[in-house]
Parts: sequence; structure tokens; C-alpha cells
Amino acid sequence: MVNKPTRRTDNLIGQDLWNIQLDEQGQLKHFLTIEGLGTNILNQILDTAESFAGVNESVKKVPLLRGKTIVNLFFEASTRTRTTFELAAKRLSADVLNMNISVSATSKGETLLDTLRNLEAMQTDMFVVRHADSGTAHFIAQHVAPHIRVLNAGDGRHAHPTQAMLDMFTIRRNKGADFGKLRVAIVGDIMHSRVARSQIHALNTLNTGEVRVVGPKTLIPKNIESMGVNVFHNLEEGIKDADVVIMLRLQKERMQGALLPSEQEYFQLYGLTEERFNLAKPDAIVMHPGPINRGVEIESSVADGDRSVILNQVTYGIAVRMAVMSMTLGGNIMGRNIMDRSGTSQNQENK
Ligand code: CP
Repeated sequence: MVNKPTRRTDNLIGQDLWNIQLDEQGQLKHFLTIEGLGTNILNQILDTAESFAGVNESVKKVPLLRGKTIVNLFFEASTRTRTTFELAAKRLSADVLNMNISVSATSKGETLLDTLRNLEAMQTDMFVVRHADSGTAHFIAQHVAPHIRVLNAGDGRHAHPTQAMLDMFTIRRNKGADFGKLRVAIVGDIMHSRVARSQIHALNTLNTGEVRVVGPKTLIPKNIESMGVNVFHNLEEGIKDADVVIMLRLQKERMQGALLPSEQEYFQLYGLTEERFNLAKPDAIVMHPGPINRGVEIESSVADGDRSVILNQVTYGIAVRMAVMSMTLGGNIMGRNIMDRSGTSQNQENK
């Protein structure tokens, strides 16, 4: 029994499939990858998230997705993404089902498609999917019933689009909306990072002044310059005068073979210490998608310091995921009174 979709190679994804994300009017239908989306869509996500950030700080719940059923399908471990997707759905008044994959019938040999058909039969409206194989969310989006929406919560080393958008939201909140003025350095294991790929696409789409990737040769893909980034193998040079430093963890679960001598040596060369962070601009911020590995890629004093926005990223993840859920499932809510707690008008529009 096949329990996984046909694996697609990373280089195919984004070239032939991304456009299934948009409907005939060019509106977001699924959210699978940043690749191929325009500045207008990214700014719409950020603007919508901004309105939800206010909701989260005050009323906590709006009725935009009342009556909708959202299924979290996480085939891979997650703390931040799964819980913030769940909170986002609940704050939009949707019903949420968290599939426990390890005790689901997929462990008895049911195929992914059969699992999906059964969930569809329960009148579901959205699948939020995390999977170790690149391309799984695309595969699901291609096979679900037309009314169902699919959000990619991380697929292999390919993409993590909601993470990238919450990162853009964090940068915009801290540095303003003009990304053209910014120098952003992404540091660490770029090779295995779906987050880095999605961040690079998002930063370039938002016309960031300079995007740098920094790390050892073994952890930076060849020809990455073609994505519109400058490559540095020396950390001090790579973060010099940066406005934003984004640290990544070593993704050992995706590494094949010995790419690094040891974690201690990695920290000596690429760990972000306070002394090194002082080479960035005085008002630079440090970010990390989590989970952080203290003493491997980042020193605790930096992770917990005044210029760290790592926990803000988590908080903003709720608003950004609310934005993407409402845009794909509930239509464009910009201009509506989302603070209206009666839900009558929104629900009528959402039918
Ligand atoms: N940033 C991120 O994807 O974290 P989780 O693996 O905990 O979801």
C-alpha cells in the first residue's frame, strides 16, 4: 500500500504547480508556496494580519469562519506552527480537528488519498498540512474536492510559506514597510531549510534592499545566487551592518552524511554571540523561526536579549495564519468590520 504521495523533486515545485494557488480572479485559493505570488498578495496578507493583530490584543475571537471545519494534518513534529494554526482557526470561530497521525488509520496502511476522502466526507473545508516530503501540500491541493482549501505548514525542505509571512510581518512591524531600505542576513543551514527558501522568495518579492545568506559551504546550496541573494561564508562579514539577522538551526533530521565537524566547532564559527551581533546595525533585530538550539547557532544572551524578537514572531504567527485562513476560505475581509462579534454580515458573505 502506498501511504505517501509520489515524491516530486524540489526543482519541479514552483515551476509548474504554484499557480494552482490562485483562483480565476487572481485571489489566493490555497497557500502552498511564496514562489509565484505577487507583491499585491503578500501585502494583502500582511495588511489583513495587521487587522487581526488588533483582534488578538483585544476581543480574541471573531465569527468570520463560523461553521467551517479545519483539519490539522501534521505528519511531522511541530510546536509553534500546529498550535498557532489551531489558535488562529479558533479565533476565527472555525471548528478544528487535530488529526493524531500516529494513531490514525494511516498507520494501518490507509493511503493518504483515502484518508483525505474520508475527511472530505465529514464536510471539511480546509486541510493544514505538514509533511516530511516536499510537494505533499501541492499533491493534496490537486486531489481535494474543489471547495476545499489547502495550506502548506511545511513540506520537506521545499517551503514554509506562513512562517515566511509571519517573519515578514515581524520585520515590517519593527522596521517599517519599506523593505528596500533593509539588509537582511539569513544565517545557518540554508541547504535543508524550507524556511530560508520561503523567506528569500518573500524578501525578494517585497523588494528588500539586500538579502544575504551566511553559512559554511556544506550548508549553502550551489547556485543559490540565482535566487537573488549574496553569499557569505564568514559570519562577521555576513552580518556586518545588517538590519535584520535571521538565525536558523541545523536541521539534522534532513542531513545525509557528515556535513559538519561538531556542534561546538559550528558554534565557534557560526554561533551568534553578543560580540558578533554588535557588528550588525545598532538597532538590528535578531529573529529565529524556532526551535532554537542554545549554544549551537545562538547564545542565550542574544536569544533572550533586548534586540530579540523571537517570541514576537510566535505571537504574530496567529494573526498571519488568521489572515491566510480568512483570505483562502472566507474571502477578502479587508474593509469589513472584523470586530463585529455578531457574525451575521460576515457569515452571509461567506456562504
Ligand atoms: N517554526 C516552526 O515551523 O516551528 P515548529 O516546527 O515548532 O512548528
